[in-house]
Amino acid sequence: MAVDLLLGLQWGDEGKGKIVDVLTKNYDVIARFQGGPNAGHTLEFDGIKHVLHTIPSGIFHDNAINIVGNGVVIDPVIFKKELENLEPFDIDIKSKLLISRKAHLILPTHRLLDAASEAAKGKAKIGSTLKGIGPTYMDKTGRNGIRVGELELSSWKKTYRSLSNKHEKMIAFYDVDIEYDLGSLEAEFFEAVEYMKQLEFIDSEEYLHQVQKSGKSILAEGAQGSLLDIDFGTYPFVTSSNTTAAGACTGLGVPPNKIGEVFGIFKAYTTRVGSGPFPTELFDEDGETMGRVGNEFGATTGRSRRCGWLDLVALKYAVQVNGVTQLMMMKGDVLSGFEKLKVCTSYNYNGKKIEHLPYSILEENVTPLYKEFPGWEEDLTQLTSESELPENFMSYVSFLEKELEVPISIISVGPDRKQTIHR
Ligand code: IMP
Repeated sequence: MAVDLLLGLQWGDEGKGKIVDVLTKNYDVIARFQGGPNAGHTLEFDGIKHVLHTIPSGIFHDNAINIVGNGVVIDPVIFKKELENLEPFDIDIKSKLLISRKAHLILPTHRLLDAASEAAKGKAKIGSTLKGIGPTYMDKTGRNGIRVGELELSSWKKTYRSLSNKHEKMIAFYDVDIEYDLGSLEAEFFEAVEYMKQLEFIDSEEYLHQVQKSGKSILAEGAQGSLLDIDFGTYPFVTSSNTTAAGACTGLGVPPNKIGEVFGIFKAYTTRVGSGPFPTELFDEDGETMGRVGNEFGATTGRSRRCGWLDLVALKYAVQVNGVTQLMMMKGDVLSGFEKLKVCTSYNYNGKKIEHLPYSILEENVTPLYKEFPGWEEDLTQLTSESELPENFMSYVSFLEKELEVPISIISVGPDRKQTIHR
């Protein structure tokens, strides 16, 4: 059986949690392959809103096994809190959630290093979620990290101590004003590690290989978005992992020839949290309306998201880099009531009109060029079939499909599972 992928095509927060939750019933295994608790996947059903950071979004479905893959970085403290939040829902966590021995651990000092690095950067800061993501991946690629499997070895605390000591020296080197009490952070960390040890640690690449061999289906759940990819995103304002399709191969041990459908999720407009270039960003009433109606506040940090028109140049790039086979459009309902809509179809790049994403999309190089569309007044949130959608909305959808050359198979008109139109 092929492994299907679900990826965000913008700067994250496209609504991946909701769609994985909608799709989960079709899969036996849901696996996260990169990122860590910088993600905040929101799921809403039965009147309850759940936010998951590390745990895959299939956890609420009876039939699905959930894997935290080798490409993920885990903060045991946040992970424990997530698990505790699930306690009222009577989920058999021990049999439904398995963790790769090769996933790396976020230590308390990784979080402190993240904060020190951002403080030292001043105005040039990345706008990190400060969950320790960058420093943990740095230790991974620097071959210094601690992996989940190490917790099964007697030496792990010694390894921890030597890495933590090194981190403390690095924090001091940054010479910024950061106060911390490592003793209490460590007490919390060690307690969380013990809690985590109740779960099963597995050789996940072997597990997934056997799952595939037995004909069962796997959905790989991406986190963040393609424009935050360490290689293909708006570097350096990116996260520290490969958020694009290739990341699923290295983050799970799935060979490229076993990838099936690539579901690409995008919002009907664009948002971004943190710093970095954003050519179609709006600073006017329209942007403010998108943020308010779309409830654009980070699920992990609570920060308000920057909002702007859909950037088709960037979206085409993401479709191309990921090999997207089906698109899913989220939050079309948020655009109801705009008299006119705009879509950026090309850039003026240093005086030349271009239609591809160039090396730099900084304001000094790029000005977005727009096509306008008539808006619609109707509230979409109660609609359940394509035939009920307003004509102007469907013209917007058809235009995007034609330009992106990929069908839009799901239109989401609200956060609840039920507010999903399949085409
Ligand atoms: P970090 O991965 O926490 O270091 O953050 C790096 C950049 O990616 C910052 O601009 C964050 O706001 C952004 N980012 C990280 N995770 C997410 C996410 O799940 N959604 C949206 N933006 C994110």
